[in-house]
Amino acid sequence: MKVAVIYHSKSGNTQKVAEIIGEGLKEVENIEVKLMRIDEIDYEFVKESKAVIFGTSTYYANISWQIKKWFDESWGCNLEGKIGAVFATEDYLGGGADTALITLIGHMMVKGMLLYSGGSALGQPYIHMGIVTIKDGDENQKERAKIFGERIGKKVSELF
Ligand SMILES: Cc1cc2nc3c(=O)[nH]c(=O)nc-3n(C[C@H](O)[C@H](O)[C@H](O)COP(=O)(O)O)c2cc1C
Repeated sequence: MKVAVIYHSKSGNTQKVAEIIGEGLKEVENIEVKLMRIDEIDYEFVKESKAVIFGTSTYYANISWQIKKWFDESWGCNLEGKIGAVFATEDYLGGGADTALITLIGHMMVKGMLLYSGGSALGQPYIHMGIVTIKDGDENQKERAKIFGERIGKKVSELF
């Protein structure tokens, strides 16, 4: 089962977190992961994907303009019925990554996606709306990102 991880990353932090989430996904049997920069999307792979995870750097307490531009222009990319999950990086606590997650979630709902994070229902580590890291994350944040990937992978396997 295919899972696409699409992200925008100018200075590399968000890409590093995407890679860690990808490692977590690969812990789950039969999951094939592909990481894609927002400007280098493999649309055939996305079409075949059961889940699409979006990641953004935080720009002025929201998603980056590159991610926003993609959502504004991607009406031809149908993500309806696919599982969606989100992550964001920021420079400092309170920098607005949570707002970026909510904005991403909104765009993904407009596309008809089924949003999932695992939630607090799965116990420690509690992951509410998605993953947030300061830059590319400390050890704890990196571990959470990997667990997040694994949880998404397990849910995809269970549902599809
Ligand atoms: C234009 C711009 C605006 C930013 N605004 C914020 C912000 O509001 N809050 C914050 O914590 N970090 C902010 N940052 C820092 C980035 O979100 C942070 O360094 C992020 O991890 C960069 O991701 P990347 O390395 O994947 O590009 C901003 C960076 C840029 C370039």
